Amino acid sequence: MQSLRLLPRRVGTAVGRIRVSAPPVPSLGPASLRCSGAATSRLAVRNSFRSLGSSFFHTVSALQQSSETEQTAGPLWKTPRTMPMEKYEYLSDVWKDGIFDNKVVFCTGGAGSICSAQVRAMVHLGANACIIGRNVAKTENMAKDIATARKGAKVLGLGAVDVRKPEAVVAAAERCAKELGSIDFVIAGAAGNFLATIDQISSNALKSVMDIDVLGSYNTLKATLPYLVESAKKYKVDGKTRPKAGTGGRIIFVSATLHYSGTPLQSHVSIAKAGVDAMSVSVAIEQGPKGITSNVIAPGPIADTEGMARLATDDSRKETPRLIPSQRMGYVKEIADATIYLFSDAGNFVNGDTIVVDGGQWHTQSIDKGAFRYPDFLLSGETVTGVAGMKKSKSKL
Ligand SMILES: NC(=O)c1ccc[n+]([C@@H]2O[C@H](COP(=O)([O-])OP(=O)(O)OC[C@H]3O[C@@H](n4cnc5c(N)ncnc54)[C@H](OP(=O)(O)O)[C@@H]3O)[C@@H](O)[C@H]2O)c1
Repeated sequence: MQSLRLLPRRVGTAVGRIRVSAPPVPSLGPASLRCSGAATSRLAVRNSFRSLGSSFFHTVSALQQSSETEQTAGPLWKTPRTMPMEKYEYLSDVWKDGIFDNKVVFCTGGAGSICSAQVRAMVHLGANACIIGRNVAKTENMAKDIATARKGAKVLGLGAVDVRKPEAVVAAAERCAKELGSIDFVIAGAAGNFLATIDQISSNALKSVMDIDVLGSYNTLKATLPYLVESAKKYKVDGKTRPKAGTGGRIIFVSATLHYSGTPLQSHVSIAKAGVDAMSVSVAIEQGPKGITSNVIAPGPIADTEGMARLATDDSRKETPRLIPSQRMGYVKEIADATIYLFSDAGNFVNGDTIVVDGGQWHTQSIDKGAFRYPDFLLSGETVTGVAGMKKSKSKL
């Protein structure tokens, strides 16, 4: 039961456009990703989760509420902004300006909270960029906004591109390479999510998530791989010689930690992200000999993202940090920093791996059971009492 408190911070990106149940549960908004799950009323949802704890129910309720207001609630990262973002909001000071000069990054979901920061960081450090998404205005506005990160930066915002459609992604990659000259780095970040139990979603619902997360990432990989291979050939690194013109030929898949130890209400995304992780390893194995690196970044709960805004209540957002060893949620900047590490000369020998950026969260999934409240008990200095397995006071152990 206690581990259910972890749910809100486990959410991946938010879609909130999925119908997981029949009326009277409110519609979850325009169904670009519509699923006809088992008929479930709000009351039935409440009853079925009552035994699992109140915080569990809050997350379901929150999704219903947020979806009801979806049309009026604006995105957290509104664009265009009136002032350019402060550099430290999306990038640490440790990186050298110009390390991605004359390079191009292609990013799906690049108008989203996390991926826009990853791209913004790349652009600040010299890259030009192409971001793709379905929403035309949102994608174009974000492209303009990201371009403010560096004078002279070129950022293409290609809307009306659905990663589920291979031909659309191929066309976007072609346009990116034609207008910007190459594709040296790829971030596969577009994803969809909603909260529901496995019995509440139909195979169509699962298919929609698989289509966006797994097939979408696959389509992105396939569309960009020829350019990545070309770039890897051009910007070879051997780890010993300082690369004169920097790095290239690298891909990052944005995944999650949900499936590491299992997360209720997130079976669909867990299944999909496990597939994404496996894909990245396969790419590393097969394409590594051509100079490609393929890695996964698995964010934990990231503050001020659409995912957290849509799928967590205020209460659960407050509760979330307690069970994270670092005692806080992450920031988009921290995902951007991991991205720069992997794409730069610093990440040359990292291939087929996963960088988890979650403050240690996934390790603590089941630690909050019973009386030894985390981290209060640890910080109190008390010893365990009242259980058979406690340490004896005179023990020499
Ligand atoms: N937020 C978190 O705390 C968290 C935690 C763990 C993992 N993650 C992962 O991090 C990534 C980004 O999450 P986020 O919270 O930043 O999400 P977000 O702000 O909602 O961004 C997701 C982006 O994906 C695009 N997208 C969705 N479906 C698409 C499709 N079919 N075709 C093309 N683009 C599509 C969306 O743009 P359009 O609507 O315009 O298509 C949106 O800009 C995701 O992979 C997510 O699973 C996030």
